[in-house]
Amino acid sequence: MLERIPLGKADVEPGTPVKKMKAVVVRPDRLGDPIKSMKVEEVDVPEPGPGEVLVYVKAAGVNFDGVWAALGKPINVMKYTGYDFHIAGSDASGIVWKVGPGVKNVKVGDKVVIHCNQSCGQCPQCNGLDPMACEEQKIWGYESNWGSFAQFCLVQAQQILPKPKHLSWVEAASYPLTYFTAWRMLVKHAEIKPGDVVLIWGAAGGLGIFATQICLISGATPVCVVSSPEKSEILKSFGAKLFINRKDFDIAPKNGKIDEKTAKEMKKFRDEIRRLTGGKDPDIVFEHVGQETFPTSVFVVDRFGKVVICGATTGYNLMFDVRHLWVRQKKIIGSHFANAYDAHRANELVMQKKIKTFVSKVFEFEETPLAHQLMYENKHYGKMVVKVQVEDENEGREE
Ligand SMILES: NC(=O)c1ccc[n+]([C@@H]2O[C@H](COP(=O)([O-])OP(=O)(O)OC[C@H]3O[C@@H](n4cnc5c(N)ncnc54)[C@H](OP(=O)(O)O)[C@@H]3O)[C@@H](O)[C@H]2O)c1
Repeated sequence: MLERIPLGKADVEPGTPVKKMKAVVVRPDRLGDPIKSMKVEEVDVPEPGPGEVLVYVKAAGVNFDGVWAALGKPINVMKYTGYDFHIAGSDASGIVWKVGPGVKNVKVGDKVVIHCNQSCGQCPQCNGLDPMACEEQKIWGYESNWGSFAQFCLVQAQQILPKPKHLSWVEAASYPLTYFTAWRMLVKHAEIKPGDVVLIWGAAGGLGIFATQICLISGATPVCVVSSPEKSEILKSFGAKLFINRKDFDIAPKNGKIDEKTAKEMKKFRDEIRRLTGGKDPDIVFEHVGQETFPTSVFVVDRFGKVVICGATTGYNLMFDVRHLWVRQKKIIGSHFANAYDAHRANELVMQKKIKTFVSKVFEFEETPLAHQLMYENKHYGKMVVKVQVEDENEGREE
């Protein structure tokens, strides 16, 4: 058994047992800003149990759940996991290193990407309804330990997907969490169809770049909300045409209330959507911002339209004028990540090159805390990725 392998590009045969690994670790006594809370430490390499797979991580995508884990808000994740340290990271590309007993779908040496839903696999919900309804459902790298900001990560075999051959390791680590979430929100829950108008908050963010592309390939029209003209330029490169700069509208509730001035701003925002779409209200609103935007989302969505929500970056105690909801028979739909089937369906579109990745910045492993700090401060766009064990960010393309 090797004591450790060097971080970076190691010339070691997949499957070789390794004792220790470098990992970016959060601990309960230093929760707070990611830049201080996340630190590189050395920990034991975990052993895959039945149905589990150990993956040698090539690259890891940066997601907001890493920010929440570092902050310890709204919860300290170690209270869920029972460990006294947490390795965040819910997106990875890498090579299968070891498989636990009973694993049939992958073998040592396979090149893979990983989806982040874990479930028991044995309950009626897992075997008939949806693994997302399993009582043991967890987001890997957030509600469970051994995420991707480490030399090795530990996952359930059902989390493994084939790595698209045309993507580099870095690109392959950039999309699963946000893209699969956006896919389930729009395709499964909101049942997007050609001709729909879809308002997308944070359209140049991690979820938004994929939501925009899903609209475009579905024949729907995305109305992209951004906070700068530079962000619109990124979305134009995917084919989006309609943009709203949210900085031009003061729509956030004040002290938990919609005062007269805010109500006027909300109307101004709706009028801007109508101006862009030629008078059509959104059939779907793609929500994840929460407190500051939710009243506007419910207000602007069309009669019988759907607000589909998966997050609450600005706060989770939401308020809105419910009269708009019942009189106009609008629907609010909660959505959370995706199951393995959703993930495979969505991954096919990446393999067919219909959905493209957008990596805005690549970080060294030691810069993982910085990447999360930038995300916390909304000083990023698209997807940020950490090179864990690749030298060159273009490495890994096979086509
Ligand atoms: N439940 C799930 O499965 C799931 C999955 C993925 C993400 N999420 C959650 O969804 C949220 C977004 O994730 P993400 O990866 O897309 O994050 P992200 O890359 O940070 O993108 C979010 C975007 O929201 C916009 N935004 C920030 N503050 C805003 C405000 N006050 N008003 C309007 N827009 C604002 C920003 O764009 P502009 O500044 O350009 O407007 C930002 O780019 C996070 O809270 C995350 O935890 C949940």
